[in-house]
Amino acid sequence: MGELIVLLLSGPNLNLLGERQPEIYGTDTLDDHVAGTTAVAAERGLVLEHFQSNHEGELVNAIHAARDRCAGIVINPGAFTHYAWAIHDALAAFEGPVVELHLSNPAAREPWRHTSVVAPVADGTIAGFGPLGYQMAIDAVADLLDR
Ligand code: DQA
Repeated sequence: MGELIVLLLSGPNLNLLGERQPEIYGTDTLDDHVAGTTAVAAERGLVLEHFQSNHEGELVNAIHAARDRCAGIVINPGAFTHYAWAIHDALAAFEGPVVELHLSNPAAREPWRHTSVVAPVADGTIAGFGPLGYQMAIDAVADLLDR
């Protein structure tokens, strides 16, 4: 069997991690998270690809390009989580496991963050565990692929 690729998608403003509200999102940069996630994925026999965009359509295109090519998707959609129905629809057309990931716990924050339009098309959501969440998300995808 060929290599199993997991696509890690990062939505808007996550390129500013490390500088952006560190009291909420921590001091690790996005590159730090990607490096850690790549290592954990390799331990599970998975190849990690990462794509970050501040544009909804680019994330939609990346999800389309993952169809028939990637085994699973881990997505932190940033604020798109709360209203981007085009991302919901694109994920619904992806056949493999999908894990929704957040550094913070949106359910414990402002009311407008309590709705996720991504959750209904994800196998599950990991939120509130900071950097550990990336590792948990890879474990979740690997287990879902093993079933
Ligand atoms: C976030 C939570 C979102 O509500 C927020 O808009 C983000 C980051 C998180 O990782 O905690 O940009 O997805």
